[in-house]
Amino acid sequence: MKVFRTVAEARGYRASVPSLALVPTMGAFHEGHLALMRVARESSPHVAVSLFVNPLQFGPSEDFTSYPRQEERDLSLAEEAGVEAVFVPSGDEIVGEGETEVRVLSVSQGYEGDVRPIHFTGVATIVLKLFSILAPTHAVFGLKDLQQCAVVRRLVKDLFLPIELVFLETVREPSGLAMSSRNAYLSDQDRERASTLVETLRWAAAEARREGAWTSQTYKEALMKIEAAGLVPDYIDAVDPWTMRPVQRVSDSTRLVAAARLGAVRLLDNIPVRNSA
Ligand code: PAF
Repeated sequence: MKVFRTVAEARGYRASVPSLALVPTMGAFHEGHLALMRVARESSPHVAVSLFVNPLQFGPSEDFTSYPRQEERDLSLAEEAGVEAVFVPSGDEIVGEGETEVRVLSVSQGYEGDVRPIHFTGVATIVLKLFSILAPTHAVFGLKDLQQCAVVRRLVKDLFLPIELVFLETVREPSGLAMSSRNAYLSDQDRERASTLVETLRWAAAEARREGAWTSQTYKEALMKIEAAGLVPDYIDAVDPWTMRPVQRVSDSTRLVAAARLGAVRLLDNIPVRNSA
């Protein structure tokens, strides 16, 4: 497996392959990342992973400095997953002076956009830089970060980027907890409490299916369930996944999104209303 640390090396590699499936990541790989890498291989025999903890997407009080970094382990896991190249850019080169920003407007608003105001501008800026450097034919993202997927989809559409996006359902621990690099911050006891979020989403999805709608009663009961487990809910709602607008009548594409805090850790999850039993 090749490891590139400069834009020039990454560009040289890209020029040598006819197609490329890119999995953009911030490292600290878990089974969810490995699933993205395996799916990427179905799009192209040439799979590249980018590994960069992007400072632009962390707010001033967020965990940029403590975010788990384990490059050596990540590189060997990527190699085992059949990845051909890993791009590990330096902040100095890829962020540069931070003079140019990319903003995707309405889908970045609400939900994560309200709690983390600069987050999606940081994501869109770095993702566009990665797309511009590596010119992937395909790019694979996990639906765990649903709003991020919506932002990237809109970016690709509005900038006419010739990239096929692949979105993969969330990989979960046996308890149902969505896999996340930040789960490393949770104690065993916290992990158990954290799974209340997906349990509540599943309960709420069943209610929404039964009612054919997202009701204020389901909303209130869901909030109570999350709070009863000692979590502090940020939001729970039914949304159209590509506009990130709230919906009342549920359709085949509707997803329930939720976020809550458990101590200093933010938990984020979403599931489809249909097919989520
Ligand atoms: O999902 C992530 O790991 C990051 O937000 C991404 C897409 C790599 C951009 O930094």
